[in-house]
Amino acid sequence: MDRRQFLALGALAALPVAGLAVSCDDGSPRPAQRLNFTNRLRIPPVLAPESDGRIGLNMQAGSAELLAGKTAATWGFNGSYLGPTIRLRRGEQVRMAVTNRLPELSTVHWHGIRVPAAMDGGPHQLILPGETWTPQWTVDQPASTCWYHPHPHGSTAMHVHKGLAGLLLVDEPGGPELPDRYGENDIPLILQDKRFTAKGEFAGDVLTGTFGLLGDTMLVNGTHDPYLEVAHRRVRFRVLNASNARMYHLVFADNRRFQVIATDAGLLPAPVEVGTVALTPGERVEIVVEFAAGESAILRSQAREHGMDLNDDYGIDKGDFDILRITAAARLTDGPPVPARLSPVGPVQVPSGAPVRRFTLNGSGSINGREMDPSRIDEVIPAGAKEIWEVRNPGFAHNFHIHEVAFTVLDGGGEPTYGGRKDTVFVPPGKTVRLAVEFGRHTDPRAPYMFHCHILRHEDNGMMGQFLIVEPGTENSVSRHIPGPAHGH
Ligand code: C2O
Ligand code: CU
Ligand code: CU
Repeated sequence: MDRRQFLALGALAALPVAGLAVSCDDGSPRPAQRLNFTNRLRIPPVLAPESDGRIGLNMQAGSAELLAGKTAATWGFNGSYLGPTIRLRRGEQVRMAVTNRLPELSTVHWHGIRVPAAMDGGPHQLILPGETWTPQWTVDQPASTCWYHPHPHGSTAMHVHKGLAGLLLVDEPGGPELPDRYGENDIPLILQDKRFTAKGEFAGDVLTGTFGLLGDTMLVNGTHDPYLEVAHRRVRFRVLNASNARMYHLVFADNRRFQVIATDAGLLPAPVEVGTVALTPGERVEIVVEFAAGESAILRSQAREHGMDLNDDYGIDKGDFDILRITAAARLTDGPPVPARLSPVGPVQVPSGAPVRRFTLNGSGSINGREMDPSRIDEVIPAGAKEIWEVRNPGFAHNFHIHEVAFTVLDGGGEPTYGGRKDTVFVPPGKTVRLAVEFGRHTDPRAPYMFHCHILRHEDNGMMGQFLIVEPGTENSVSRHIPGPAHGH
């Protein structure tokens, strides 16, 4: 909606018209959104490899019926909105073929996947329109829920918002017995908040205000007003926050408790029973929920009480949304309870005397006083290092994501992490989060990995830095200046 239409609506709102809800354009959504649950939840299809074994992704423009009876111009992978779910098995050789059929350059990053830097799909691995990028790697990480999305510096917010995002599930043979029938008792939930024009097109500027776009309308897997029918007593949900800026606090309307079984980097050592779980952009969580035959449950994101958290004052966390209604069939298939032990992978243990690196998130667009510069290496790290990273946030709400690592949150985080390993963490205003970080072993003295705030407006603004992983002992001999993106302009 443009300024003039907004003013016109404002004038209308001043009239005593019953039931006319108006959201403001200042970043504050309506206080609560209740749904009717009229549309069956879409489940992204699983992408099968092509006959030559490659996994083919096409980035393309299209249009999608996101609101009933209306169409929006969108982008998607292999379709018009979002992308298929890609399943990888530990030990497998992956060969991707990503073709850019968009009118502009982009990249595709495998968020949470442990890959050599040249395969990471960050801002340096540009794919020009018409080009195909063919990264490959061997899957070597525990079972986890990861995702893929574009990462072109300065345009990530727009590309993701238009619809470019999908799930990457890593499977590991021999793991604990958990609900694993995709689409039946293993359900992906990709959460995004949007704004729409009256015609059903996307509205709002992803690069406006402090946080960029905060929506007033929820989409789950691209479905507005969704419901889900289940026929299993225990259902696993893999929840991804693929929103540009919004943080969710998930609860059930009847306050039922559920089990958290995994965070970003994989399964927890043991399940943790909770009544609520929080997700900032880029984070994932897996939960198992129990249903009784014939009942319905409503999953919501609850606004935090005012004053509980500084970020209320900044508008990031005011939303109170219905997310999904789940209805259980009259007869349910039973399955085993969640095992008491899940993963043997414990917290990251950092040796005493390990290096401590300190980062301050400044304003809404720099780290340690510097904006992202694609030609500047900020940190050089020996392969396999374990280090303490201290992330200080004197200002607005942020989070912090590091590519190609798993970390344990030691202290200062705004939300519990259940002893699980992560790659993205909430950094509340006024807090310093300390992370025990385990770096990967792929080395490359020329291709950097990224660390950044995953509020995409901040990332695009420059709240991002670059690190190299190098052979131990060569940290001081590598160049800290690198050429810009291979296809830079
Ligand atoms: Cu999900 Cu560097 O990003
Ligand atoms: Cu990432
Ligand atoms: Cu931020």
